[in-house]
Amino acid sequence: MHDLDFKSIETVALDDGNDALVIIDQTRLPNHTELVSLKSQKSIYDAIYLLRVRGAPAIGVAAAFGIYLAAKEIQSDDYDEFCAQFRNAKRYLNSARPTAVNLSWALNRMERVIITNKEKSVSEIKRLLRKESIRIKEEDTWVCKTIGEYGLTLLKPNMGLLTHCNAGALATSKFGTATAPIYLGHEKGYNFKVFCDETRPLLQGARLTAYELMSAGVDTTLICDNMVPSVMKNGWIDAVFVGCDRVAANGDAANKIGTSYAALAAKHYNIPFYVCAPTSTIDMNCQSGGDIHIELRPAGEVTEMWYEKRMAPEGVKVYNPAFDVTEAAHITAIITEYGIAYPPFELSLKSIFHNNKILTTATPDPRG
Ligand code: MRU
Repeated sequence: MHDLDFKSIETVALDDGNDALVIIDQTRLPNHTELVSLKSQKSIYDAIYLLRVRGAPAIGVAAAFGIYLAAKEIQSDDYDEFCAQFRNAKRYLNSARPTAVNLSWALNRMERVIITNKEKSVSEIKRLLRKESIRIKEEDTWVCKTIGEYGLTLLKPNMGLLTHCNAGALATSKFGTATAPIYLGHEKGYNFKVFCDETRPLLQGARLTAYELMSAGVDTTLICDNMVPSVMKNGWIDAVFVGCDRVAANGDAANKIGTSYAALAAKHYNIPFYVCAPTSTIDMNCQSGGDIHIELRPAGEVTEMWYEKRMAPEGVKVYNPAFDVTEAAHITAIITEYGIAYPPFELSLKSIFHNNKILTTATPDPRG
């Protein structure tokens, strides 16, 4: 396998000729840019679970292509049998990671295709599923770019920015969410100074965001997570931009573990804290952060992964939640593709959904 030029390739792609989902293996970055071709449902499930493809929107796109490939393999031409097998595949993929709502959002959207086209032949439904999966990916590019345009209205040239984890191009189809205003500003010569924290334990900030931003020519400084209050106190941060995995109807936002710590520090130093959220990441069926299922990950990610040898005593107890919830009270605004929502988020998010006739993430009615 040869290393590829990271900037010229897509994070997630459908390879029709080989009936495969193709991803950049993000666990190999930044040292190796490697494309992997995934054909079986197990390999797609594993890629999501192991964070070879990661970031809420990219997980959604991967799941959409994954379920299309599963549907394509179904042999039966009987609609009910096709639906039953489709739903088994859907349940399986949906169980890969619990917090990023884009996973179930994309799978539900694909399921709607089979529900609303009940009268069509199974082969026609498969064609429509392919079309829908491609639309999900293309829309994501538009969504990210638009979030970037709204985000940029909040920024001025030469600002210092902090971002956490990777809500960048690697986590989406293009541009990223939290990085989109940075990329668009960079194109206009805004000369941002961007600080990314390394994001323990899986180092998405160090391995992915620092790499992405530097490859784009952005002024990038890497810090450890526990240095966030210091750089804020130094006056180097004018705004914080983060992504999210699920936003509740009241504005509480689940994102990579450590986000709420950055939000608390930002509140203390009076720095605006922005959450970039495609509406596909806003779960209006979830009333508050307390309803969000937080994924717990294996202990080895804390004690040994990325180290040459284990760095903690054998047998030590480990608590490894992948996400935390930033309270709505610590969020200055939530930037969506349909505009910027300000507190009270109960009202502003509701009106974004209402005014743009956006469907919620609710499971489609199986009776069709
Ligand atoms: O566990 P990860 O790496 O999938 O977590 C990703 C994040 O927390 C991102 O900030 C979030 O998914 C938004 S990506 C645009």
